[in-house]
Amino acid sequence: MRIGVLTGGGDCPGLNAVIRAVVRKGVGTYGHEFVGFKDGWKGPLEGLTKPLGVQEVRGILPRGGTILGSSRTNPFKIEGGVEQIKKNLAEMGVDALIAIGGEDTLGVATKLHELGVQVVGVPKTIDNDLGATDYTFGFDTAVNIAMEAIDRLHTTAESHHRTVVVEVMGRHAGWIALHSGLAGGANVILIPERPFDLEKVVDHVENRFRTNYSPIIVVSEGAVPAEGDMITLGGELDAFGHVRLGGIGTWLAEQIEKRTGKEARAVVLGHTQRGGTPTAFDRVLATRFGLHAIDAAHEGDWGKMVGLAGTDIVRVPLIEATRELKTVPVEKYSEAEVLFG
Ligand code: F6P
Repeated sequence: MRIGVLTGGGDCPGLNAVIRAVVRKGVGTYGHEFVGFKDGWKGPLEGLTKPLGVQEVRGILPRGGTILGSSRTNPFKIEGGVEQIKKNLAEMGVDALIAIGGEDTLGVATKLHELGVQVVGVPKTIDNDLGATDYTFGFDTAVNIAMEAIDRLHTTAESHHRTVVVEVMGRHAGWIALHSGLAGGANVILIPERPFDLEKVVDHVENRFRTNYSPIIVVSEGAVPAEGDMITLGGELDAFGHVRLGGIGTWLAEQIEKRTGKEARAVVLGHTQRGGTPTAFDRVLATRFGLHAIDAAHEGDWGKMVGLAGTDIVRVPLIEATRELKTVPVEKYSEAEVLFG
């Protein structure tokens, strides 16, 4: 079989580990041939390819990013896009696709499968908010990067008797904030699932100062105050059609400074959380996903996505991945709340 591989959406540590595992097992065990599609769905849409064999995947396991490049191109939003993809695949003799991506990329894979394209999906997002898998690779790396930043911010905050607000990624779900906040000993964690009460946050800050420690607040980029209409923070589409969030950390630091009369600083971790080498956990998870994805393709089990259930890799219908976002449940947030202040 000739199989196309693509990576779509925001990049994520571990993507190269998936590609490597797919190709090594695909060539070595099954004797399949691969073609790399560049830049997500843009690749099959515009016929942009690169060679993808055992040689090309040597040495990429620890590398962040994706050797195939990525984009947020959605062929369903382009007139004639789907027909073009089908035509290109037929002309190139590509029998099937392995699509590695998040909500949008797998959403496209699901619809293409319904239209007869043979496809297997691999879930990817640092946000860990995809349904049908307990964890996505990239999340552990992002949490570790944020945790290390929080550790460092504790000492500088203490030295200057300041509040530090750390803004982490997570536009719809607060998994990175929750896990990095717990691991880094944050005093308050604010997530999109739970609009926050600014007065309560300020109370926690005051309490913390009363005990002579400096407060560290971890906030997801998608978190909003309960009195949400007070502020307008990003949310607009940029020139490329991407939603631009951002600003909640800075806004919060300003509010805290105003209300407490004590200095506050905001640190926005941004794309540092997505860059660089994956942790061991993410390398192992990504490799296992890759190995199981090529098994599914070899068996012709199309329209499936690999996922993690406990410690096992399972196959679920692609549609499950995008049906519902996996947000932080109330009980998990309440566990952390006990430690606030
Ligand atoms: O979905 C992953 C993610 O990292 C989000 O947490 C973040 O809001 C978004 O991607 C940023 O996307 P971009 O790279 O387009 O700025």
